[in-house]
Amino acid sequence: MAVGSPQPGAGLPTSTSRLPTLDDLDPAGKRVLVRVDFNVPLTKDGAVADDTRIRASLPTIRELLDRGAAVILMSHLGRPKGHDPALRMASVGAALAALLGRPVHTMAAVTGHDVEETARHLRPGEIMLLENLRFDPGEESDDPRLAQDLAALADAYVNDAFGTAHRAAASVVGVARDLPAYAGRLMAREIAALGAVTSNPERPLVIVTGGAKVSDKVAVLDHLVPLADAILVGGGMANTFLAARGVPMGDSLVETAALADAARIAAAAGDKLVLPVDLVVADAFSAEANTRVIAVADAARDDVDSAAAGVHAAGIDPGWRALDIGPATIERFRRALLGARTVVWNGPMGVFELAPFAEGTFAVARILADLPNAHTVVGGGDSAAAVHAAGLADRIGWVSTGGGATLEFLEGRMLPAVAALLGQ
Ligand code: 3PG
Repeated sequence: MAVGSPQPGAGLPTSTSRLPTLDDLDPAGKRVLVRVDFNVPLTKDGAVADDTRIRASLPTIRELLDRGAAVILMSHLGRPKGHDPALRMASVGAALAALLGRPVHTMAAVTGHDVEETARHLRPGEIMLLENLRFDPGEESDDPRLAQDLAALADAYVNDAFGTAHRAAASVVGVARDLPAYAGRLMAREIAALGAVTSNPERPLVIVTGGAKVSDKVAVLDHLVPLADAILVGGGMANTFLAARGVPMGDSLVETAALADAARIAAAAGDKLVLPVDLVVADAFSAEANTRVIAVADAARDDVDSAAAGVHAAGIDPGWRALDIGPATIERFRRALLGARTVVWNGPMGVFELAPFAEGTFAVARILADLPNAHTVVGGGDSAAAVHAAGLADRIGWVSTGGGATLEFLEGRMLPAVAALLGQ
């Protein structure tokens, strides 16, 4: 597959070069209110199961403390309907204190007398953490009353919560109206890394996308297909693209409602679209299932790779389902990625949580890690988890902490948090 010639970059709706950052703030002697995204997975016992997002904001927190600020942290956790004891911030505060090696005053309320008094007495180098913001209904409705109560605790506001940048919440946009507002180090790095994909990327730009559903990625693909030089599709999404081309998919997950979108995107992408030529199929959705590799004919292009390990090229028999991309597809993707200068990957290539169907996803992670001269970005959620599970996160240019926020950024949308930081 030849990569195309340069095309004009699409970029963000508005330049983010004016984004105020910690370089523009003198935090010494100030109380700084910091929105972080500590929305982390918890164990059954309520402990922090994965502290990646907490670690990601440590540079901002440490810098503010080192530069003489008192730091007031705030985050949401989960999707509580009102107060929910299972989603209190206590275990997050404990995890943060352990990482920082300093005490964290973890509050039992979002606002109110205790919070105000603790904030008032907070000294430079000290940290407090508010209770789960979503215990207050004003958070998600961007209630000005909550924004003002939060802003009244501090002299300046820093937003480091890239993962929440797509939510127009009181702590994201409201507080930025009421205090001088700055992007934290994580926020700034996320915007720079993702912006290098969407705004004048170094070419060739290759998009690798997977995961279960085409419908989750339609807006991303609509935005990136004209911009990219190649689009590699795997995972459940590829089932729907192949089905749209008339390939029998057996019992595979096919998103019938998205067939028309898949056909439209495929037509727009033309030769830039790279679909699987073989798949690992199984007779049950189970790690113990019988499996085999079959070639899949791409009816529209008749480009099935005869070297694929397939028994036949007619597609998948009833009773069997695709759960991973096959070895010929991995090789095809590897060739399409060789020489790429910018790569963004979002969504696994198969059911990587089950060992027999993990190879496609881990192979793509290894290919990205080995690319010599590419700006590689892994876009949140499952693909970020896969890169961490493969032990390759250190060899990827940027692993985004965002899920929905990363997708909305890649859709070319102005995120509410960014607009608020830009004073829009
Ligand atoms: C995320 O995990 O993507 C963010 O923390 C936002 O959470 P939400 O989807 O519940 O708003």
